[in-house]
Formats: sequence, C-alpha cells, structure tokens
Amino acid sequence: MAKSSAKTIYVLMGPNLNMLGQREPEIYGRDTYQDLVKRCERDGKTHGFKVVVQQSNHEGDLVTWIQDAMTRADGLIINAAAYTHTSVSIHDALRLLSIPVIEVHLSNTLAREPFRHHSFVAPVARAVILGCGAEGYSFALQRLSSILEN
Ligand code: DQA
Repeated sequence: MAKSSAKTIYVLMGPNLNMLGQREPEIYGRDTYQDLVKRCERDGKTHGFKVVVQQSNHEGDLVTWIQDAMTRADGLIINAAAYTHTSVSIHDALRLLSIPVIEVHLSNTLAREPFRHHSFVAPVARAVILGCGAEGYSFALQRLSSILEN
C-alpha cells in the first residue's frame, strides 16, 4: 500500500512503445508516447490517482519496477509489448504482487500473428484490454478506480 493519501498507479510499458506515433501507425495509432503519458496523467488525476509512467526497452528494468510496485503502488497497468509473449521473468515478478494488475495492448493481439496470441501476463492479470488503442489506458484507469474504491 502506498504511503501518500492519493493512491499510486504504476503504468509500465515495454520495448518500442517509446516509438509510438512513428511505429506502424496503422496498427498502433498516431498518438506518441508523450501523448500516452499525458493521457494517463490526466485520467489518473480525474480518478484522484498519482500515476507513475515508465517505459523501458530492457526486460530487467520492467522486472525491477514490478518489484518496486510491491511497496509503492496500489495498482499496476502493464503493456509489456513483445515481452508479453516471451517473458517468464515478468510473469514471475507479477506473481509477487497482491495489488490489481491490468494488462493493456493497443492492438488486438489475438487478431494478429499466432506468436502474439500467448501472453505470460494474462494469467496474473485481473483484466486484459486489447485493441482499444490509447483509450485502453483510460479504460484500465477507470477499472482500477472501481476496483480500488470497493
Ligand atoms: C503490443 C502488442 C505486442 O505484440 C507488440 O510486440 C507490441 C505492442 C500492443 O500494445 O499492441 O510491441 O503490446
């Protein structure tokens, strides 16, 4: 549980999401990474959350931030990007958490190549949001608000 009165939500993003806007916009949309950060901060404020957004191209950074969330966050939103489909270490780190975890993907991974169909995150997530673009992060924050107020 976070120490401050506002609940803290970690939003973690994996490899190549820093390239949003330039990266296959027909799949991931035209919003840039900075646009996504602003959306999360704006929507977090609406729900009275302190939102901490972090992105890395390195698996170990994501593992460390998930471990940090054990003591510093009240909820976690994760788009592990390509590591979703490969990372046992992210799966294992998420298993440490008792706070609610929501998995988000901008694209509908189930409608794409077969190698994107398996997620190591989904079995340890409370909810999964696919194919809603940047709006998926707004839905995830809305859902965390409902979960955390009960
Ligand atoms: C993604 C889907 C992943 O398969 C891909 O590797 C990404 C982005 C998404 O948000 O749609 O990098 O996580």
